[in-house]
Amino acid sequence: SPIPGPATRPLPIPPLAASTVGPDGVRRFTLDIQQGTSEILPGKRTPTWGYSGSILGPTVRARRHETVAFTIRNAVPEPTTVHWHGMHLPARFDGGPHQTIPVGGTWEPAWTIDQQAALLWYHPHPHGGTEKHVYRGLSGLFIVDDETTDALDLPKDYGVDDIPLIIQDRRLTADGALDESDPTDVGLLGDTIVVNGIAGAHLDVRTDRVRLRILNGSSGRIYNLAFADHRPFQLIATDGGLLTAPVTLPNIQLSPGERAELVVEMRGGEQIVLRSLPIEQRRDIDRAAEFGFDDSFDILRLRAAQNPKPSAPLPVSLATIAPLAQPGTAPDHTFELKWFMINNQRMDMNRVDLTVPVDTTQVWTVRNNDNWPHNFHVHDVQFQVLDIDDQAPPPALSGWKDTLYTEPQRTYRLAMHFAHHSDPTYPYMFHCHLLLHEDHGMMGQFLVLAPGR
Ligand code: C2O
Ligand code: CU
Repeated sequence: SPIPGPATRPLPIPPLAASTVGPDGVRRFTLDIQQGTSEILPGKRTPTWGYSGSILGPTVRARRHETVAFTIRNAVPEPTTVHWHGMHLPARFDGGPHQTIPVGGTWEPAWTIDQQAALLWYHPHPHGGTEKHVYRGLSGLFIVDDETTDALDLPKDYGVDDIPLIIQDRRLTADGALDESDPTDVGLLGDTIVVNGIAGAHLDVRTDRVRLRILNGSSGRIYNLAFADHRPFQLIATDGGLLTAPVTLPNIQLSPGERAELVVEMRGGEQIVLRSLPIEQRRDIDRAAEFGFDDSFDILRLRAAQNPKPSAPLPVSLATIAPLAQPGTAPDHTFELKWFMINNQRMDMNRVDLTVPVDTTQVWTVRNNDNWPHNFHVHDVQFQVLDIDDQAPPPALSGWKDTLYTEPQRTYRLAMHFAHHSDPTYPYMFHCHLLLHEDHGMMGQFLVLAPGR
């Protein structure tokens, strides 16, 4: 089981990315993909990669309907890409395996944000090399804001009562380097739990309610997040935005790539610990222990001020989510996950696996036909889980999702709407987001085409 470090170091908060808005109204950002050195463990110098820094990246923040433009320079010694995970955007700016930025090269994607407020993220997606590039430190958050969310009385003071948490596991060699050898078929499973780039973090909380915006940025580790004293929290948002109403939960499971926003209350002077509990297995997983399912460990210690600033109770309702389709709708496409393959095929950059007519809502059925953990991520869309083995999804899966954990031998029916047509030379991807599985080819490509194409 991973060894938690003593919580002796203040939690770093990724800075907000600087931007400028020109007379054209476009918000411009610059990101430099670079090498550096980080102190993941106190006193150890670890060579890492980061965006405009030595590890991780600044939090990009922009509003719905804003046009954003990026200048991204690649100063690491390998070609890479920048994928905007969870973003609805034209395929040529999606940053998948076809949009490689050569060593020393520059890439300038730009698009208009057209989706509800959410916690998204950006990370590399080079064909066959995603796991190592993410593992070396390349990940950043992307917060989308909108008017509906602004009007709600939620904790929203970034770094004060609205805290981003990128949770990852790493393994360091004796001299402090990142150990990149693959221990299991689930991926690079680490024994050092790292939050926002460091091990052993604590957070001083000055308000009586704190919002944690959590990303599982790990390669293969699945977390079952809970507080050590079993206090419940309120889940307010998942991958693609707010739920219809806060849901009180004792724990939430997050697989790689998934996000959750939760609000927890603390009394003055209290200390609480965010932990990961063993994964509840409702279906058999072969070699569950090897995949870390039995592990439990501390992630972050939170320390409340003696007299925390009171904050408003959470609104009783948050967002309106119009159902995209009815449960039980016959699927347009079916995906079987098994043994590093989807529908018995591995990723081929030159093969388009399916095409979708633009401006359609589709139902996709995903079945994990394996006895291994997998998840399923679709580019360009946020989807709704209609049903799981014909049953209604649990509350944590009742909102917008772009990445979904799939239990062995279960069938998930997803509804999604395709509004952008892709340039036929730039497909979108669907894949398992356990990064080793993705790199081994558990991925396919789709085009969204205008009528007659
Ligand atoms: Cu977060 Cu195709 O990836
Ligand atoms: Cu997988």
